Amino acid sequence: MRILQKHKDTIEILCKPDEIDFNIGDYLVAWSGDKALLMQVIDVAYADIPGVTEDILRDLSAEEVNGRSLFDPYNVSSLSILMREIRKVTAKIRGVINNSHITTNSTWLPNRFSAKIVKANDKLMKITQNEQNSNLITLGTVDGVSFGITVNALDGRLTIITGKKESGKSHMAKILIEGLVTHGASVMVLDVNGEYTSLGYRIDGGESHLMERMLILEPGENFTTTISEIGLGCMLDILEHVYNTPSTSCREFSRIWKMIERREGKVSFEMLVDTLSHIQMNESVREALMSRMNSIEASGFVNEERNPTDLKSILHNSGEGRLVIVDLLNLIPATRRLIVEYLLTKLSSLLKNNMINPIFLFAEEAHLYLRETYWEDIVTRMRHLGLFPVFITNQPDTIPEAVYRQADNIFLFNFSNENDLERISKAARIDAESVKMLGKTLPPRYCLLIGRMVSDIPVMLKVRSSELKTMGYTRIFFRNDTKRQGETYWRNSEAIH
Ligand SMILES: Nc1ncnc2c1ncn2[C@@H]1O[C@H](COP(=O)(O)OP(=O)(O)OP(=O)(O)O)[C@@H](O)[C@H]1O
Ligand SMILES: [Mg+2]
Repeated sequence: MRILQKHKDTIEILCKPDEIDFNIGDYLVAWSGDKALLMQVIDVAYADIPGVTEDILRDLSAEEVNGRSLFDPYNVSSLSILMREIRKVTAKIRGVINNSHITTNSTWLPNRFSAKIVKANDKLMKITQNEQNSNLITLGTVDGVSFGITVNALDGRLTIITGKKESGKSHMAKILIEGLVTHGASVMVLDVNGEYTSLGYRIDGGESHLMERMLILEPGENFTTTISEIGLGCMLDILEHVYNTPSTSCREFSRIWKMIERREGKVSFEMLVDTLSHIQMNESVREALMSRMNSIEASGFVNEERNPTDLKSILHNSGEGRLVIVDLLNLIPATRRLIVEYLLTKLSSLLKNNMINPIFLFAEEAHLYLRETYWEDIVTRMRHLGLFPVFITNQPDTIPEAVYRQADNIFLFNFSNENDLERISKAARIDAESVKMLGKTLPPRYCLLIGRMVSDIPVMLKVRSSELKTMGYTRIFFRNDTKRQGETYWRNSEAIH
């Protein structure tokens, strides 16, 4: 292998076909003396050798004329054949290794003619984790060698997990959740597909070690609240953003709320509805507010008969780890939004008043329940308060561009669609070309780790399996299991006779 040329952060290497014992995404190092250039392979192509097109055309015409290839008993053409078969490997420079330390802004380059170029996947764990071996979450393997990230890499950070459908995003989220909770963190999951609720069990049916640290919140069942717990500020947000209430009606609602509060000292659902139906006001405003109150009541989430669910004690965590799963499956969109609006308001106030520890929030397909103005709030204000979001999506364009720019960590699974990759390439922590070239070639169950968690050295990882029951499957009509189908058929036909 020889270095051909360097252009900005891209390096081109010439090599013989049998020297290619690496895959796209693998790392190579070019050693010169005691320093080495660290490079990630992003493409392999035929070398552009002058006259090759002419040679190929000549060969084709010869075949055409004689009907067979040229006879060459002394193999005199082997050198020219070898030259024609030379490959050009394109790689991205990720840094210079000097005494096991990596520098990304070095001006050093290896000797073009004598540099020894070898595979370097086995060095990645050392380089990216700065030799820290504590607090590791094992994510899988790189070239057969176990690979993990430290929990600190996610702490205080904004993380995105993205990839096309069924590429293994939720699976990765579950591995991270397990790792975080095992290391003592508090994790909340907004579960729209009801696929995290079985994390308390292992695949073999037994209880998992997460069982005693987890709680599933089912809105309307073991998760309810009261109007006074929601508070006026959050109620106004709910009316405006969840139920699209006009601002005049919101103002009127605020006036009524304050009036009841002055008169009674507290506010309840009944008092609000009662006052709304009697007080003198514009009929269309009354109707608008009454219909909103009916919807809130129908959600089942506001229940004045019970004490509001105490999130503070639920999230109390003195280092043993806490997993709270909010089951949003089977809820209508407005109720989902209502609950998330309440949760985020509540969490930020608890965090602001130092009443709970910082918390990791896993949000699947957040655009389904997160209003637009909340994105920025979550990635700036709430993150500083101690709410660290992990967004999971198969539609990258549902996450605003600004969020990609601010993302500290990205778990990228395969995308075949150029537009999707274009969106992710807006991320600040990797060059756009690498995202586009590597994102397309990622095999199933492989993931590209980008960002702080790997010290900005993107790593292609084979994701490990999990012992936990993950329930990440989609219900289907036709099954491949022919025996089971046959059984069902037999039972049915017995029943008929
Ligand atoms: N590394 C892995 N080892 C074993 N099984 C895996 C792995 N990755 C994914 N799976 C399995 O593949 C299936 C699809 O994975 P998963 O549900 O995580 O995909 P997804 O990207 O979240 O899909 P969707 O876009 O539909 O939400 C699941 O049954 C999951 O358990
Ligand atoms: Mg999923």
